[in-house]
Amino acid sequence: MRRVYLDHNASTPVHPDVLAAMMPFFSEQYGNPSSIHSFGREARDAVETAREEIARFLGVSAEETVFTSGGTEGDNLAVKGVAWARGTGHIITSRVEHHAVLRTCQALERVGFAVTYLGVDQHGMVDPDEVRQAIRPDTILVTIMFANSEVGTIMPIDAIGRVTRERGIPFHVDGVQAFGKIPFSLRGLGIDLLSCSSHKIYGPKGIGALYVRKGTKMVSIQHGGDHERRRRAGTENVPEIVGFGKAVAIRARDMAEEAPRVTALRDRLWDGVRARVEDVRLNGHPTRRLPGTVNLSFRGSEAESLILALDLKGIGASAGSACTSGSLEPSYVVTAMGVPTEWALGALRYSLGRSTTAEEIDHVLEVLPAVVERIRSLSPAAV
Ligand SMILES: Cc1ncc(COP(=O)(O)O)c(C=O)c1O
Repeated sequence: MRRVYLDHNASTPVHPDVLAAMMPFFSEQYGNPSSIHSFGREARDAVETAREEIARFLGVSAEETVFTSGGTEGDNLAVKGVAWARGTGHIITSRVEHHAVLRTCQALERVGFAVTYLGVDQHGMVDPDEVRQAIRPDTILVTIMFANSEVGTIMPIDAIGRVTRERGIPFHVDGVQAFGKIPFSLRGLGIDLLSCSSHKIYGPKGIGALYVRKGTKMVSIQHGGDHERRRRAGTENVPEIVGFGKAVAIRARDMAEEAPRVTALRDRLWDGVRARVEDVRLNGHPTRRLPGTVNLSFRGSEAESLILALDLKGIGASAGSACTSGSLEPSYVVTAMGVPTEWALGALRYSLGRSTTAEEIDHVLEVLPAVVERIRSLSPAAV
């Protein structure tokens, strides 16, 4: 059976050049980067080369780049690290953040921090004026994602950064979905901390980075050795760091060319679906959206059933974030955008990537209408 993978926001295949770059660091260059002999120095050089590659891509300096085990750890380190450095205070975030930020904020509430969860408009955007209004004398951090993982909406990060900078409040951005997909440089954006992850950009899973602007007060949340300038203890994961660096180098080379191609395929999918299926709506911003993300609601159907039916046809799509699948609740992101439940229940995310072709999209367009029709006829949510 033909298989089509449309879940690149969940994870991506490791690029063959990334895998090749990683291989020697499992069995030939296995030294510990903290060792001072030549085995260790070779590993250290590889780690620092990768760090420089990532820092260059972000437009920051290598000393400001901390390796983590991925986006989740980067978000935890940024939010808890800044909160614990202050000891007490108020945090501003949004209701559409990834669980890595939302649940970290909830955990901080349980130990006495105050948190404001801002709403979003019908396109999933946070209003920078609402950020301004939410600021209190004791606000210690604003944390807003760059682009939403479920609907792809790109937040007005520059405008929010102007507000936080004006008020001297640290600004953390969960950049996991935007990093390597849309061009940006951290110079001048008003961002103090940015988390990113390798497995969303054709690198290995379990590695990421956190940018920490020089001078930002943040404590370590994991204690041990002096690694990563005492910001993240633990022996560096050398093969994965090397793979991440290579994945970023490939993004730096290919991103500009790839983005318009993927955007055109994304629009081909949406145009094709609305021409063929009735009662469908696009969730997320019509234009300020990640190149590869299309989130569609099919009224009177349930996302979980659609995913399983599409899976039987070899098509991999998803309902929001991979970690929340398995529940029959409508997505909290789509719900926060004010989408009525009868629509929100059928919200399905297709996320395209570098290997997606027009032929694959046309195949999905052929298969999808009958799948939606069948699920609608069986669904208890049918209206
Ligand atoms: C916006 C966002 N933040 C954080 C994460 C977590 O990243 P990781 O899988 O590297 O822990 C994800 C992953 O889906 C994400 O989409």
